[in-house]
Amino acid sequence: MIQSKVQDYQKLFSEMRASDMLTFILQNHPEKVCFSSSLSAEDQIITHMLCKLDDSPDIFSLDTGRLFYETYDLIDRTSKHFGISIRVMVPDATRVEEMVRQKGVNLFYHSIEDRKRCCRVRKIEPLQRALEGKEIWITGLRIEQSPTRNELHLAEWDNANRVIKVNPLLYWNKTEVWDYIKEHNIPYNPLHDQGYPSLGCKPCTRAISPGEDIRAGRWWWENPETKECGLHKG
Ligand code: ADX
Ligand code: SF4
Repeated sequence: MIQSKVQDYQKLFSEMRASDMLTFILQNHPEKVCFSSSLSAEDQIITHMLCKLDDSPDIFSLDTGRLFYETYDLIDRTSKHFGISIRVMVPDATRVEEMVRQKGVNLFYHSIEDRKRCCRVRKIEPLQRALEGKEIWITGLRIEQSPTRNELHLAEWDNANRVIKVNPLLYWNKTEVWDYIKEHNIPYNPLHDQGYPSLGCKPCTRAISPGEDIRAGRWWWENPETKECGLHKG
């Protein structure tokens, strides 16, 4: 039943522009749509589109407690720019305290297992809470971002979170993203101009050199195949 709905959406969306997909889901899932923003350039575009369609879109951000100062600043600047309130989700304090007591504050450098535990506590569990009661989860994923993302669809069933995930910018390329940002004068993270095309938590992100893969600076000590925090495994 849900699978056939997702297939219908995939077909429908393949002929729509990103903002039309958003219009469609807002109309067909009133009060049940939310958007996860990491404040990336892609996410700022979706915020811009949603704010044109909805006075108070449900936009949430996962504050892991380890983000860059510039990202926190952008949360504030974006809220003011668009006149919105971004739902900031924080990790469960007890789980963070237990993890840090057992493994230390910088456990992510020790092993992939420890890194994934940190992502689970600081991102995945708060994401699950943010998605509670929702039917549609919008993301800013793009195929071009990673080899782990080339099998994504414009609409897909996320079995872990029991929501339909919608990726309206899936087929956009980097030039389209930056043209849109500049054309609409949208606030963006200044770190993008300093060698950080992809931004996550500060201890797990570093600047890249010209010619390197756009996600080379994320969890740079791991192989490309493991470089997902688990938000998007479906
Ligand atoms: S990640 O899995 O490697 O961290 P990435 O940074 O590429 O993901 O972002 C892909 C999409 O995941 C974003 O467009 C956004 O929808 C969601 N996302 C990632 N990190 C966050 C965050 N901290 N808060 C909210 N959404 C996020
Ligand atoms: Fe923890 Fe790094 Fe994952 Fe952020 S990206 S939640 S600091 S392991």
